[in-house]
Amino acid sequence: MLTPAPRPGRPLFPTRFAWGAATSAYQVEGSPLADGAGPSNWHRFTHSPGRVLTGETGDVACDHYRRWRDDVALMRELGLTAYRFSVSWSRVLPTGAGAVNPKGLDFYRRLVDALCEAGIAPFVTLFHWDLPAALDDRGGWLNRDIAGWFAEYAEVMFRALDDRVAWWATLNEPWVVSDGGYLHGTLAPGHASPFEAPIASHNLLRAHAAALQAYRAAGRHEIGLVVNLEPKSASSSDPADLAAAARSDAYMNRQFLDPVFLGAYPDDLAEVFGEAWPSFAASDLAEIRQKIDFLGINYYTRGVMHHDPAAWPVSAAKVTQPDSVYTEMEWEVYPQGLRETLLWVRERYGDVPIYITENGAAFPDGVATDGAVSDSLRTAYLRDHLLAAHAAMQGGVDLRGYFVWSLLDNFEWNHGTSKRFGIVHVDFATQQRTPKDSARFYAEVIRTNGAVIGVSEG
Ligand code: FCB
Repeated sequence: MLTPAPRPGRPLFPTRFAWGAATSAYQVEGSPLADGAGPSNWHRFTHSPGRVLTGETGDVACDHYRRWRDDVALMRELGLTAYRFSVSWSRVLPTGAGAVNPKGLDFYRRLVDALCEAGIAPFVTLFHWDLPAALDDRGGWLNRDIAGWFAEYAEVMFRALDDRVAWWATLNEPWVVSDGGYLHGTLAPGHASPFEAPIASHNLLRAHAAALQAYRAAGRHEIGLVVNLEPKSASSSDPADLAAAARSDAYMNRQFLDPVFLGAYPDDLAEVFGEAWPSFAASDLAEIRQKIDFLGINYYTRGVMHHDPAAWPVSAAKVTQPDSVYTEMEWEVYPQGLRETLLWVRERYGDVPIYITENGAAFPDGVATDGAVSDSLRTAYLRDHLLAAHAAMQGGVDLRGYFVWSLLDNFEWNHGTSKRFGIVHVDFATQQRTPKDSARFYAEVIRTNGAVIGVSEG
């Protein structure tokens, strides 16, 4: 469902709006063990048979660890004003805690320097799913000590880069780590236990809080948290479906934000997890409830839910919408949901500065012989979501920036390279980068601050 192209108008976004693209370390860097880096749990996971649907690993990915200069040049050509990337914890601290690997740290120093020289503001995520394998051996997110390990690592990064990095994010999508890594086992470390998932979630939040505290002592800029949100509605007015939608919302959207903003987990989670739901110390929740400087929201799709006892753990499953476009991930394209989500956050949690830290789509791209990559579905997706973001701003949301996922086609976790999210095409055999039509569109959006998609006001 594409909205008709509006006539070009005035800039839709404020002058200082951050226009970026996002990536993450394991998905683009490759060279996972180079220069003294330690292995991560994702390295281990992808090297275990059967874990990645295509059998691939992230050993090469986009080879960004060696091609970062070219990639920064590419970002500059597109006119990006910001770049969101993550740091590989085990490059900097090969065993997760203790000795720092100076060569690992230097990689990020050089990258940040090059970005600043190119006029691109670095937006650094400290944890985007790749955990040092040595810490996984000590229990990973199930070990309470991880809050201290994470704060120690965060402090190393703050000291090295806070003079040039103005935005820090502690965690990327803790819900996915808990749900995929500890409840269903589809992502690293591949555990499947209802008893483990709530503990992993809680320690993720404790680690976030510990890093925040470290930043208040060592940092001078802004720090926040990145979560993925999906508006959940019921497929019918049947009370069972309404309850299913409410449980899904509590599990995915409120599990992390309620503790951060309101200091308590949603009551529904005790119902969802039953005997596997532990009681958490009030002092932990008091620490978790700390002011963040901004909230990063990753938005891709929505969920229209119906009651389904077989769908574990929330007994709720998505209902396919016959009239909607679906991406290759089988995610419904639903731009209005971005506006709804942004307004919902403001209404429930108050007026916090927001960045859309990820938004994008995997579609099959047509690669022509002349090097052009036609991806009109992705261009339409971006345009419609930007209009929805603008509508939310008109509704009072303090939106400060937008990051497309992703700069490059990359290693999409357990899907390998089979799902392409980039606005820049990557030929994984040659590592050649080719901006897709959506990249040219996005460059125009940036150049005109949205006027290219803006509705004419006169
Ligand atoms: C998000 C992840 C990101 C990428 C996109 C498609 O959940 O943060 O790394 O995989 O989905």
